[in-house]
Amino acid sequence: MIEVKGLTKRFNGGQYVLNHLDLLIKDGEILVILGESGTGKSVLLRHLIGLIRPDQGKVIINDVDITKLSEKELLKLRSNIGYLFQEGALYDSMTVFENLAFPLQEHSQLTEPEIEKKIKAVLDMVDLVAVENQYPSQLSGGMKKRVGLARSIILDSKILFCDEPTSGLDPIRSHDISDLIASISRKMKCTTVITSHDVRNSFRIADRVAILKDGKLKALGTPAELKKSEDPFVQEFLS
Ligand SMILES: Nc1ncnc2c1ncn2[C@@H]1O[C@H](COP(=O)(O)OP(=O)(O)OP(=O)(O)O)[C@@H](O)[C@H]1O
Ligand SMILES: [Mg+2]
Repeated sequence: MIEVKGLTKRFNGGQYVLNHLDLLIKDGEILVILGESGTGKSVLLRHLIGLIRPDQGKVIINDVDITKLSEKELLKLRSNIGYLFQEGALYDSMTVFENLAFPLQEHSQLTEPEIEKKIKAVLDMVDLVAVENQYPSQLSGGMKKRVGLARSIILDSKILFCDEPTSGLDPIRSHDISDLIASISRKMKCTTVITSHDVRNSFRIADRVAILKDGKLKALGTPAELKKSEDPFVQEFLS
């Protein structure tokens, strides 16, 4: 379980991006956090892996308040969390193979042949073939997202965070990558948090959906519950 308690953050004394935000993320669920651009979705996710420290509040992952961890402890924590960055964050100077081998070389004891086998297996999971020797600049946006996803699951983490996995993709690619994340998440039994603008795909794949606005979650529930909500804000957001 991941527990966010009273999480509060503003930058340089400006507006509150997160304002005493509370959230319980259940083991194994797919939770999608929706919100307009600039509402703090990426900031929230970054707090969940300790890339940003809050002004106030806690993020408790497996009984540990990660806001109190040292940088060294955070590095160890992050090796147990799969993270798909909004911008993809592949190393441009490395091939797909090298991008995927990197976390394994850093954080696993696998031998070179085992690494090769693992890379083949994750590329297979994200439906990519014959891209090992390509550089990120040679791939389409959708393929880059898939490589990013392959990298985020390569250490078999039980937690997966995806920041805007469909941004910049056309409707068909958005549909496919959403399905892919959901099927991988179910197969690997990952606790999965996805941020998105994409209401339609989110409602299709999420166990629960949250809507972030003004530093707080304005709504949280199953897709069916939110669809039935009589809250005018929720209705307007979904329409
Ligand atoms: N490091 C930072 N320094 C100052 N302000 C920041 C920083 N990171 C984020 N912000 C501000 O926090 C707010 C929330 O940003 P965030 O990137 O979380 O939005 P978002 O909901 O992810 O938007 P999008 O849907 O466009 O990805 C924005 O106003 C942004 O300018
Ligand atoms: Mg964002």
